Amino acid sequence: MQVIDSIARFRKALDNERMHGRSVGLVPTMGALHEGHASLIDSAMRRCDVVAVTVFVNPLQFGAGEDLSRYPRPFESDLALASGQGASYVFAPSVDEMYPGGVRTTVHVDELADVMEAATRPGHFDGVATVVAKVFNAAGPTIAFFGEKDWQQLQVIRRMTVDLSFPVEVVACPTVRADDGLALSSRNAYLDGPERAAAAVLYRGLCAAAALASSGERQLARLRDTVASTVAAEPLVQLEYAEALRRHDEIRLLVAARVGPARLIDNLGVPL
Ligand code: PAJ
Repeated sequence: MQVIDSIARFRKALDNERMHGRSVGLVPTMGALHEGHASLIDSAMRRCDVVAVTVFVNPLQFGAGEDLSRYPRPFESDLALASGQGASYVFAPSVDEMYPGGVRTTVHVDELADVMEAATRPGHFDGVATVVAKVFNAAGPTIAFFGEKDWQQLQVIRRMTVDLSFPVEVVACPTVRADDGLALSSRNAYLDGPERAAAAVLYRGLCAAAALASSGERQLARLRDTVASTVAAEPLVQLEYAEALRRHDEIRLLVAARVGPARLIDNLGVPL
């Protein structure tokens, strides 16, 4: 596995792979890799000839007062996980390499742009869309893999890919969960024992609403309230929002909450 920190060398390496007719799978991450990320790399390995993982804690997508400075950066174990999963490249640029001279061009995607994460974290998805556009341009992936765990992010990236005509197939991978249902997240590392146990209420709330929806409940307000009231019953968890959306052929249930020092999000789809 090659570890590369320059955009030019990353592009050259992957140009060479494509020149030899090999498809390139891209898995963008911010590192602190866990089984969720591993499942994305695994999907990429199945679908593509070579896999590149990016590890970059993107300052552009963090708001003032968020956890940019304390975000975990266990680089050596990230390399071990990526190579253990079979990745051929890890692209780990510095902030200066990605944003030399600052940022005067950003990508804004008008998709779910004033609700949920977009409402709670102003500018967050501009930061995400901008960095994903940059790694798409650097890597020229055939397929890029994203987790359903960050459902709104996935919608934003899908829309950007269509609107900006990136020749990339975006593939969504299912959320990997701990035994009690908590979605794996790099931010779970912020939780102490009681907080970690309490955090499972997010998934229980989603499941309670999903059960209602599956038994025929179609009033989105009732589904949303079911998530909210389940989560509110756990004193260590402060609900930020609960949402139920009808999109295409499903109902999507979403939740965000603070648990001690961590801000956690989760979601679940119910087919219609
Ligand atoms: P990060 O939070 O590191 O997540 C990288 C990818 O892993 C995302 O596509 C995310 O949805 C996926 N992922 C995280 N936890 C998961 C889980 N439990 N199961 C399945 N997939 C999971 O999301 C980002 O980084 C950044 O915003 C990024 C897209 C890299 C842009 O900076």
